Amino acid sequence: MEFVQTIQETKNIIKEWEKSGFTIGLVPTMGFLHEGHESLIKKAASENDKVVVSIFVNPIQFGPTEDLDTYPRNLDRDKKVCENAGTNLIFNPAPEEMYFDNAVTSVTVGELTNGLCGSKRPIHFQGVCTVVSKLFNIVTPDKAYFGEKDAQQLAVIKRMVRDLNFDIDIIGCPIVREEDGLAKSSRNTYLSDSERKAALVLNESLKLAKKALENGEVHASKLTHVISEKINSEPLAKIDYIEIVDSIDLKPVCKISSSILVAIAVYIGKTRLIDNFTWNTNDNK
Ligand code: PAF
Repeated sequence: MEFVQTIQETKNIIKEWEKSGFTIGLVPTMGFLHEGHESLIKKAASENDKVVVSIFVNPIQFGPTEDLDTYPRNLDRDKKVCENAGTNLIFNPAPEEMYFDNAVTSVTVGELTNGLCGSKRPIHFQGVCTVVSKLFNIVTPDKAYFGEKDAQQLAVIKRMVRDLNFDIDIIGCPIVREEDGLAKSSRNTYLSDSERKAALVLNESLKLAKKALENGEVHASKLTHVISEKINSEPLAKIDYIEIVDSIDLKPVCKISSSILVAIAVYIGKTRLIDNFTWNTNDNK
């Protein structure tokens, strides 16, 4: 496995791989890798000749009051995870390598970024789309892998790739959970013991919503009510949003008749966690 910190060196290696006709899979990450990332890397390794993992805590996707400075980092452990999961190259640039001081260009995806996390984190998706576009240009992968836990990010990147004609397949991979159901996240490390227990309320509330759907519920407002009631029963939890949206264009739905995304963001103490599931009415008839 190669470990590279400059764009030029990465491009040189990619050029050699392309000359040999190798296919390339990219797994963009911000490091502090967990089993969710590991599953993306393994899938990439099973579908491509070469796998690149980028590890870059991208400053421009964090708002001024967010956790850029405290975002967890552990490069030594990340290297081991990458190596064991089948990575061929880690690209780990410094912010100065990725961004020119006087850069004035960014990538904005409209509409899809207005709701859900986009409404709470105004510059977030512009930062994500800009860095992901840059990574696509540097690595020129055939396929790129993203977790379904960040469902809005996945939908936004799919749309960006279509709109900007990137010749890259975007592969969404299922949420990986702890044994008790909490979705794996690098931010879980912020939770105290009592908060860790309280955090189970996210998945539990979603399970109740899924049960309601299985029992024939078609009103989004009823689902929202079921979820909010459960979350509000947990004293350490504070709802940031509960949204029921179309899974492709992310527009809110009132009556459930197609493929929907049920997405929530909840503060557990100071830590903001997200979780979701998609539901396709036709698959469940
Ligand atoms: O999902 C993430 O970890 C980040 O948003 C990403 C896609 C690596 C861009 O910085």
